[in-house]
Amino acid sequence: MGVFNQFRIWVLTICLVFQSGYGFYLPGSYPHKYGVGDELWVKVNSLTSIDTEMPFSYYSLPFCTPDGGIKDSAENLGELLMGDRIENSPYRFNMYKNETEIFLCKTDPLSAEKFNILKDRIDEMYQVNLILDNLPAIRYTKKEGFVLWWTGYPVGVKLQDVYYIFNHLKFNVLVHKYEETNVAGVMGTGDADMIPSGKMKSNVPGYMVVGFEVIPCSVTHNVDSVKNLQKYGKYPTAVKCDPNTVSMSIKEGQPIVFTYEVTFEESDIKWPSRWDAYLKMEGSKVHWFSILNSLMVITFLAGIVLVIFLRTVRRDLTRYEELDKEAQAQMNEELSGWKLVVGDVFRAPTNPSLLCIMVGDGVQILGMAVVTILFAALGFMSPASRGTLVTGMLFFYMILGIAAGYVAVRLWRTIGGGDHIGWVSVSWKAACFFPGIAFLILTTLNFLLWGSHSTGAIPLSLFVILLLLWFCISVPLTLVGGYFGAKASPIEFPVRTNQIPREIPAQKYPSWLLVLGAGTLPFGTLFIELFFIMSSIWLGRVYYVFGFLFIVLMLLVVVCAEVSLVLTYMHLCVEDWKWWWKSFFASGSVAIYIFLYSVNYLVFDLKSLSGPVSATLYLGYSLFMVVAIMLATGTVGFLSSFWFVHYLFSSVKLD
Ligand SMILES: *[C@@H]1O[C@H](CO)[C@@H](O)[C@H](O)[C@H]1NC(C)=O
Repeated sequence: MGVFNQFRIWVLTICLVFQSGYGFYLPGSYPHKYGVGDELWVKVNSLTSIDTEMPFSYYSLPFCTPDGGIKDSAENLGELLMGDRIENSPYRFNMYKNETEIFLCKTDPLSAEKFNILKDRIDEMYQVNLILDNLPAIRYTKKEGFVLWWTGYPVGVKLQDVYYIFNHLKFNVLVHKYEETNVAGVMGTGDADMIPSGKMKSNVPGYMVVGFEVIPCSVTHNVDSVKNLQKYGKYPTAVKCDPNTVSMSIKEGQPIVFTYEVTFEESDIKWPSRWDAYLKMEGSKVHWFSILNSLMVITFLAGIVLVIFLRTVRRDLTRYEELDKEAQAQMNEELSGWKLVVGDVFRAPTNPSLLCIMVGDGVQILGMAVVTILFAALGFMSPASRGTLVTGMLFFYMILGIAAGYVAVRLWRTIGGGDHIGWVSVSWKAACFFPGIAFLILTTLNFLLWGSHSTGAIPLSLFVILLLLWFCISVPLTLVGGYFGAKASPIEFPVRTNQIPREIPAQKYPSWLLVLGAGTLPFGTLFIELFFIMSSIWLGRVYYVFGFLFIVLMLLVVVCAEVSLVLTYMHLCVEDWKWWWKSFFASGSVAIYIFLYSVNYLVFDLKSLSGPVSATLYLGYSLFMVVAIMLATGTVGFLSSFWFVHYLFSSVKLD
């Protein structure tokens, strides 16, 4: 026990170190107060397109650059992994000062190369993502009476074979007047030192940014009239910004003039609810419907499970005599097949070590998903702090290596009849199985992205960091878990296994068909939520209903457990005692349906993306997710079946 306590302290320490290193409390999750006239700087993120899923750096296009040079903003691991590159920009506002006709810069005449890149980006529907005070720029459009909102604005548009660029931006910043009492309540006491105290105490009115809207316009400027203008000088004539007309066409050898204007508007929106504008997209009705849907599947399955337990386990054993003869005979025939396989049911499966490794990794992935979504649902990872979700996932995944090693090795010893031998190799393989697959997929995709100079490519330094995290933290932790698994006593089987395997009678339905069919039930509970998850991953929508997602995840776990349990029972009843792998894939086969769903999503919602590279990227990432889902759901099914079989045969005192 001493060892165990020490070990717990270590885990805690590691947790704390990581917590302070990455932090779930990132800049931007506390209010920043600006005095009137204070400078506000807009930041830029990568150019993105839902058409290609390949982000590019903002400055890969001929936009104006800031005076002090381009600087990277502080980022975390998760942001980099998602392809975000946040950089500074020349757009500068003064708090609560409306300004118009601000001249930004005149680019050099477009070279043939720049011109072609610009054309390509417009063709592929790339959009510019601006950030002010950690809020992404929002754009409203009207369509048939509906107001739609988007984050970011397009680089340009193509109309009748002419390419137009949006070179004049009309910003509208919503600000909320600062009230001392209010802010103190919002922030709590611990964060007071994060804001310069000089500003805190002053009585000068201050403002907080609670909204950031942009209207892009395409305006033809007079190139000669800006010859002598400095940056931020006033453009000599009034600029009329009408979002419905475009006039600035791009031509090779011609410069582009960029201008902007800004208005500040006071708003009632309070700082804590400034994200609401981004989240009010879909009503919660659909999510409730999805939960209701899963509950129905669950109740249905739970009914079957209950019947199994009542009819077989209890009646069979305790009230056997009370049944009348006829029913007894019938039931014997129908339902007691499982008793005949008593000497084979715990016979080791083929490829036992692979099963152990997959279950170990499944526990790790499932644990990571549960903890991450729980943290997100509790609000630790708000959309305001970019990348924390991915960072958090990575962190929990590594920590849970301990669980993976423990489960894999303990299961290995259970199947192997208590043998210690080979626990190191099993934990090694558990530490390398899923990360290895992930690494393979990501490296392949990365080569594609490197080839196209996208910022979505993981930089070499980050690659090294990931490898270091894998081999210096994840692998050792898994080995530690494996060590404990090897020390723990293996689970004893309640019945002995015969020397000679029993013959399996010919089956009415091939079991792969049953296994495949079983996957539809968990998929049924998932697929409504899947649409939202997909659109948040691929269309850049903000996903926020983590509370719902957590419930759905829990329901999914229950369904997987039930489905696999029922299927295992069905197999045992027809004297098919090879249940180990089938129980894994009975629930794991939901992954196949999810993959088919993503292919369907690619074809119908993303309209095949643009070109083979994008489609490969999409399919690669989907494959990666699907493997993870298969391991997690399969593990749930396997563990529940294992428990069930163990329970079934230990309650039968057969002779
Ligand atoms: C800026 O302009 C907007 C819209 O015209 C107006 O509502 C607002 O009061 C102005 N703000 C200031 C500080 O003048």
